[in-house]
Amino acid sequence: MVEAPDKIREVPVRATVPSNIALIKYWGKRNGSRNWPANDSLSMTLTEARTITDVWVRDQPFDAIVWEGAPALRSDDPRAASDKAMQHLRRLRDLLGFDRSLHVETRNTFPSDCGIASSASGLAALTVGAIAAWTGSSEPAQLAEHGFDKERLAALARLGSGSACRSLHGGYVHWQAGVTPEAQSLSVVASPEHFPLANVIVILSKSAKAISSTAAHRDAWTSPLFPVRLAGVDRRLAGVKRALEQKDLETLGDLIETEALEMHAVMMSSKPSACYFTEGTSQLLAWVRRERQKGQLEAWFTVDAGPNVHLITRPEYASQVARQVREAFGDVELIIDHTGRGMDLSRGGPQHHGCE
Ligand code: PMV
Repeated sequence: MVEAPDKIREVPVRATVPSNIALIKYWGKRNGSRNWPANDSLSMTLTEARTITDVWVRDQPFDAIVWEGAPALRSDDPRAASDKAMQHLRRLRDLLGFDRSLHVETRNTFPSDCGIASSASGLAALTVGAIAAWTGSSEPAQLAEHGFDKERLAALARLGSGSACRSLHGGYVHWQAGVTPEAQSLSVVASPEHFPLANVIVILSKSAKAISSTAAHRDAWTSPLFPVRLAGVDRRLAGVKRALEQKDLETLGDLIETEALEMHAVMMSSKPSACYFTEGTSQLLAWVRRERQKGQLEAWFTVDAGPNVHLITRPEYASQVARQVREAFGDVELIIDHTGRGMDLSRGGPQHHGCE
């Protein structure tokens, strides 16, 4: 039996961490067990698409994770061995030496596992929430006083899911691979205020992806295109940084479309081949290019490891882009997102913060 916390009396810590969309993709790992990436990547932190994770310290001999109101998964359940969140919690406990048990309740504001980077926000929120609960911290400054500044939190989050490390900071975040796994680093290349953009996320499918990104990352090395990609990706990244600095959306858009197509070409030409595109994805990408050529759309696409499409545009055009997508594709589900500020930590769960 999982002893649920008395939510009125026991106030949890709440970690809220947004997802991020990679403009230059992390694809392939130099070292699988430590998520050391094959190349540098750069992402835009989002704001609407986020994970909200409440954590209570409990006096019981097991951890429990409740995912969006589903029955609790206990760490002593055999199914916990293959659960990514439970594995990460155990990893954090082993690395950091904390022994108190945790009760975790977590939910996303967006569909999971289909190319909207739920593992980035989810694993980052679990990292921040668990460490905050263990150290009794309820704001980022307290975490830092306990030795967990953003850099250390990012290094720990990365062990759960590589892309999670980019979600803690706001704006546009460059994850540098470094020359050793220990030399990896993160830097914010532009703030949300410098160049605010919108991301109209077109949800073509909510089905969980058939091929996990862990397996597909590993197989990248079998693609004949992968060496070509690795030889050119730094140059494209430099171009993206320049375009962000100069607030040049057309150049940025052109670079991110090539980047997304190149990553998917590597995926498709790997053995076994991984194809995340559906017919709907291809139709939407063709439509974006057609409409843009006609001068009727100012948006550029990128696609992660899933069928759903992210349309990057100026904030003032976001509702117009959404309307155009609906006119062309019917009543498709959309999330209109924006460049965001990164992680947040507070004390208070559902009863304390009203409804979210
Ligand atoms: O962090 P992972 O293992 O879920 O890999 C993320 C891979 C992409 O989302 C496709 C690209 C990226 O950089 O986020």
